[in-house]
Amino acid sequence: MPSLFTPLQLGAIELPNRIMMAPLTRARAGREGVPNELMARYYAQRAGAGLIISEATGISREGLGWPDAPGLWNDEQVDGWKLVTDAVHQQGGRIVAQLWHMGRLVHPDLGGGQPVSSSATTAPDFAHTYSGKQPYTEARAATQVDIDRILADYAHAARNAIRAGFDGVQVHGANGYLVDQFLRDSANDRDDNYGGSTGNRIRFVRQVLEAVGGAIGMDRVGIRFSPNIHVQGVEDSNPLALYVELAWTLEELKVPWIELREPYKSTSSGSIPTAPVSPAMRPHYSGKIVINSDHDWTDARHRIEGGHADAVSIGRLFIANPDLVTRIAMDAPLNFGDQRTFYSGGAQGYTDYPFLTEQVAA
Ligand SMILES: Cc1cc2nc3c(=O)[nH]c(=O)nc-3n(C[C@H](O)[C@H](O)[C@H](O)COP(=O)(O)O)c2cc1C
Repeated sequence: MPSLFTPLQLGAIELPNRIMMAPLTRARAGREGVPNELMARYYAQRAGAGLIISEATGISREGLGWPDAPGLWNDEQVDGWKLVTDAVHQQGGRIVAQLWHMGRLVHPDLGGGQPVSSSATTAPDFAHTYSGKQPYTEARAATQVDIDRILADYAHAARNAIRAGFDGVQVHGANGYLVDQFLRDSANDRDDNYGGSTGNRIRFVRQVLEAVGGAIGMDRVGIRFSPNIHVQGVEDSNPLALYVELAWTLEELKVPWIELREPYKSTSSGSIPTAPVSPAMRPHYSGKIVINSDHDWTDARHRIEGGHADAVSIGRLFIANPDLVTRIAMDAPLNFGDQRTFYSGGAQGYTDYPFLTEQVAA
């Protein structure tokens, strides 16, 4: 029976434990989206994770709308990421790049034009921009030319990830961004072969995975979804049917692992609109399932030992505990993060959280 500390194979990547670091946008890459020494230090501190999933990383200027978030579309960004991947590998860790196109959530101030989405819709609430919060603007529905360009951008960014020394990539298919805007029906009202039936709504993500897998090999590709939360105006009228069909597609494409942000009790995401879908996906998908959100390890251990999941990914506690895996192994006390520095700032609230050894010595 596997435990949190049993090694795990995710396609071509071998993990020494099953506690992964969830993707966490920290906005320290500057306006050009170029990773730096500070980011290298932050990630290297967390190399004890079974696998680090990087913060969401733009595949193109058009697709990146978060101030100071990193990109992976040009050589400068590739060189910046090399600092990070080298530092993580030197500490014995592994890291994949989360590939991001934000779709309608890109404000024109950042993306440089009207945002593109599955449909001509406007996201609710406000975009973060360099001049503060601004209402989202209406997206235009992607044409086939747009879709072909975006697929090429995914493939290009995936190749850049490998050039930058990443062990693989994770496609961001969660949280209301572009892939999710095609997938779930509240944001997709197309009447062509990318909209309507579940099969049609899955078409875009299938093509993204084929493009990325074709570029770097499917054994280095994973994907993240958020099936049971309503997020940034995106939800689905029948998540169970959609994600079971998606499980068939992932099985057919031989995608080796998926990460599901699916809270199963009322938590930080508020109340849970629908039950987790991973139990329904499991019989149809033979790859590895990583579960996320609000887990403590008693519970995560229970779900892994019970065969309901293969690994757990942890977000906020990794911000405040660089040596989280050691702390879990020792059942040691945990630090709690300061939310004011989650999405901005320099070293403060980023690389200055103490290791257990420092706390014991103090
Ligand atoms: C500061 C912060 C940044 C985040 N950035 C990302 C991101 O870049 N990509 C993503 O898929 N999820 C992102 N998330 C969601 C986390 O990966 C995770 O799903 C969430 O924090 C719940 O897990 P936890 O309870 O272990 O923190 C972010 C969450 C936080 C708090």
